[in-house]
This record gives sequence, structure tokens and C-alpha cells, in this order.
Amino acid sequence: MTASHSMTTQEILTAYLEFYKERGHALTPNVSLVPSGDSTLLFTNSGMFPLVPYLSGEPHPLGKRLVNFQRAIRFEDIDEIGDNRHTTCFHMIGNWSLGDYFKGDQLPWLWEFMVEKLGIDINRMYGTVFIGDQYAPRDEESIILLNEIFDKYGVKQGKENERIFAYEGNWWKRGDAVGELGGPDSEVFYYIGSDNNGIGQNPEDNEDEFIEIGNSVFMQYRKTKDGWEELPQKNVDFGGGLERIAMVVQKKNDIFETDSFWPIIEELQKLSGYGYNDSIEVKVAMRILADHVRGCVLLAMDEVAPSNKDQGYVLRRLLRRMIRYARNLNIQEGVTSNLVDVTANMIAWIYPELPSMVPSIRDVFNNEEKKFSKTLTRGVREVEKRLVDFDGSVERLAETAFDLYQSLGYPPEMIVDDAHDRGFNVDLKVFEKTYADLFAGHQSQSRAGAEQKFKGGLADHSGQVVKYHTATHLLHWALREVLGSDVIQRGSNITGERLRFDFNFPEKLSDEQVHEVEKLVNEKINAALPVSFVMLPKDEAEKTGAIHAFGEKYGDQVKVYFIGGSLESAVSKEFCGGPHVENTSEIGNVEIYKQESVGKGVRRIYARTK
Ligand code: ALA
Repeated sequence: MTASHSMTTQEILTAYLEFYKERGHALTPNVSLVPSGDSTLLFTNSGMFPLVPYLSGEPHPLGKRLVNFQRAIRFEDIDEIGDNRHTTCFHMIGNWSLGDYFKGDQLPWLWEFMVEKLGIDINRMYGTVFIGDQYAPRDEESIILLNEIFDKYGVKQGKENERIFAYEGNWWKRGDAVGELGGPDSEVFYYIGSDNNGIGQNPEDNEDEFIEIGNSVFMQYRKTKDGWEELPQKNVDFGGGLERIAMVVQKKNDIFETDSFWPIIEELQKLSGYGYNDSIEVKVAMRILADHVRGCVLLAMDEVAPSNKDQGYVLRRLLRRMIRYARNLNIQEGVTSNLVDVTANMIAWIYPELPSMVPSIRDVFNNEEKKFSKTLTRGVREVEKRLVDFDGSVERLAETAFDLYQSLGYPPEMIVDDAHDRGFNVDLKVFEKTYADLFAGHQSQSRAGAEQKFKGGLADHSGQVVKYHTATHLLHWALREVLGSDVIQRGSNITGERLRFDFNFPEKLSDEQVHEVEKLVNEKINAALPVSFVMLPKDEAEKTGAIHAFGEKYGDQVKVYFIGGSLESAVSKEFCGGPHVENTSEIGNVEIYKQESVGKGVRRIYARTK
């Protein structure tokens, strides 16, 4: 592969996977945006999302060097969409060392890939490292390594032309809950300004001129109640935004002008008759639409339907925002469904199954649009009246929003966009807090729940969560014993307070059935059975009879967790990444305290320890 300015995003990805495979990395799957069995975050937000157990020390079935690309959503960035680089939905290219190689290999490889394989101009590249605090020292090692890298490419450095900066902000963590993983990081920045390759400037003080294109997290710490503790192993967690890297490689100053968005912008130009460069208002609306439709299509592909809860609420919110911004382009209807085709075709090289899903996705979006259009039309008129003499006050905005929500069902957060159209930049997070403070108790529980998750997590990775995870396996086994072996898991969600388990079953469980299931589970808990795993090639793992979700993507090697003395005599066997307790006696007796129906033929039960 030779460096070229015109590499497509697909070519970039292919080169990336090849480079790391040559260095012994095994490919892991691009999993759903909806986390399974992890209730700490609403969305998969990074490539390392499913790797927490392995970064914590569990062996990974594919070994210690992994590579992948992963679809991700960072809904908390929604306020930033409209500029030249932020997106809610993106693909992260990632690679990991699980306690194997460390900085000395990782940094030189990464820069070699970017400079030599992608042809990124080293003269515009800058590195940052962690400045140091009470938990971790200043990252001198990375400074030395980065210096060597710049020397290798003959880039002059010194007082007048600094390339490496140490910052407090160079510490990455997946979320804020106790048990989350994190560590110092080294980021790669690219200068997109026009002033002497950025010499004399730096990424922190000149944010708009520099763009972050990669982040190597030296993941060595776990969050405790009051600080950070060292992990048993030193890992590397690298992540880079594929679409942003394409922006730099394709020499654009605007991510929306790359091949990951431009076809959508072209379609919008056709639908609206406006040109992308006509005005900043048009540009912002087109960027918001192009970003949101990609997110909406991928959420729909991952079986999320618009609703008032959790992921469904986010999908609804993105769709409604699209409908609203389409009106700024004078597109009165059909925008959400009319963009599905072009979006699906554009990313079919990653998701070949997507084009066949277009008709059903269009239907879902159309329905949502029909329901919302009237509300929007009425809302817009009311907003117009109420914001005539608007002065930018967030409190006043929150009151107006509450009023319109009560009377018309107009989505409260949309008022922030309305203010923005009138030239007032109101921070969405500040607005949400003001709204929640002013009207605490009025908001629906579900929205409050979703809002909390946007902030970074409800659950943690504590011992209790691990106990409930093993209890979930026992429950799965017991349900199949009592209700029949057609029963299979359809979903799972665990917090420190309870476990929740979805499975296919057409009717309410009787009291007897519930008792029988509880009895079986508690017998196995009281029998103090060991919990172990084996690593097997996928077809052999299937032959053991271990339960696994069909249609789920597994690697070539899988991990089978079993409860009981041996694989042959085990009561429960499942394909699972872990982690689990070592012995069932650690769990404590459990009770099923609630059951409900969640859609056609699917039941949900809740259980907790007594
Ligand atoms: N997990 C790191 C990030 O998302 C690499 O930036």
C-alpha cells in the first residue's frame, strides 16, 4: 500500500486492519450499538466498550493483541454537531495490548501507520501526553518516544517549534462509575490551520486549528470510591475516529466533505435546492441532518425503535431534530425516510445487510415523522410568539419549554435549537439542568433515567454486579429446566441492585413456576459449585451444548463458562466473556420479585438477593 491523498475511508480501514494483523493482532467483531449485558452506559461509545473484563485481567479468547473497528454513539456531543468535526455517530478504529506490549511498541507503530501508510503530513502532526498528578506521574516515557518519532522523520524540534505538550486533560476513562477503567493517554493532533504548519501554536489553546485523530490510552488503573488503583496488568487501548482520520487523509477541513457524509449532503442539496455553502445556517442544518441520519439508520439496524425510554428515546430525539432542521431548509416532509437510501448505500461496504432493511426503516421513520409533524407545526408558531423579545435567559427558556411541553407535547430540549436559530447559544446541558431543577418531579421517570445515563452511567462494575451475572446464568439454566429448552435469553441488564432478564415465553409465569425456578437456582447456589471457563474453537464450543444467542457475532475462538465440576457434568454452560464469581456460594440466595411482558412473546423478570 502506498501513501495517497485520495484514499477512501474503506481503503484507510483496510490498510489499518492489515497493518495491525501483520503485527499479530486478531480481529474482534463490530458489535451492536446497544450494549448487551452491560447496564453502565446507554450506548457502545468506544471500541474498548466490550473489552472491560479483558482489560481487567480475564483472558481473551483471541489472545493478547486485538484490533477492530466499532460503530459508536456519543450522544453527549449532540450540542456540538454543526461544526466541522463533531458527530454523534462514528466508527472507531481500535487496537489493544492486553498486558502484552506497551508504549515502546505502540507509539512508534501508530505514528508509522499514520505517516507511512496513510501519508499524513508529519510536519502538521503534534503529540500530547499526561502531565502527572497524585495517581500517575508525568509521562516522560511517552515524551522520549515521541521525540524519537519526530527525529526519525527529520522534524526539527526545540523551544521555538515545540511538538509535544503535556496536559492535565490527557487522562481517559470510559465512564464515571466505580470500577471503570482509565489511564494516562497520548493523543495525536493534526494542524488544519493555514499558519506555518501550526508552529508556535498548541492543541489546547488553538482548539479550532487542531483536530484530534488518535488516542493511545495506557490503561493501567481502575476507579475506586476515592481515587484510582493499579490494575493487575498494563494495557494499551488505542482509539481513533475513522471519519476524522479520513478527513485529514482526504485533505478536507470539514468532516462532512469526506466520503462518509458527502453523498448525504448532495442528496440534501437536491431535496432542498440549497447549496451547502449558501450560508452558515444552511451548512449547520445540513451537517446536523447528515450526522443524525447516520446515527438513526444504525440504531434502526440494531433494532432500536422510537420510544420514550433509553435508546428508543435517543432515536426519537434524533429523528425529531432532523425533522425540525429540515424545515430550516424548507423541506416540509419526508426528510428522515428520504435520506435512508443514500445512507444505507453509502455504508453498505461495512454493513452489507443494510440496503435490504431500507423499506422497513423508512416505514418506521415515516410513522414517527407523521406523528410529530403536527406538533412541530403548532409548536413552531407558539415558539415564534413567545420568543419575540427573548433575551437569552435560560430560566425563561426552561419555563417556556415546560409550558409548551404541557400544552402541545413540544419536546423541551428543542427550545435550545429555537434559541440558537435566534442567535443565542444556550448550552444544552445547562438548559437540561435548569429545566430539571425548576420542574423536578414533573418530568417522566423514563426521560430522567435516560438523561442520567447520558451523564455517564447508572451501574458499576462492583462485586455485586459480578454475582448477579453468575446468578443470571443459573436463572437462564433453571428457566429452561422448568419452562422447556425452547426458552432462550433475549436480553439482560444488571445493576448493583438487581438483575433483569428477558426471554421468549408467551405467557405470565405461574407462582409455582416462579417458585420452582427460584428453588433450582438456590439449590445450585447452596451446593457451592465452582465456576470455570474453557476456551474452544467456535464449532467445538457449539458441540458442548453450551447456550448461545443465535445470530450473535462471535470470534473464531470462544469462551464457554460452566458451573459445576467439569464441562461434562456442568449444570449451566454458556458462551460468555465473563467475569463471574469463582464459586456459586458467593452469590447468596436470590428471589424473583417482579415479572412483566416486554412485547410480543418476550417476558422480563427481575431478581435480587434476599
Ligand atoms: N478508548 C479511548 C477513546 O475512546 C481510546 O478515546
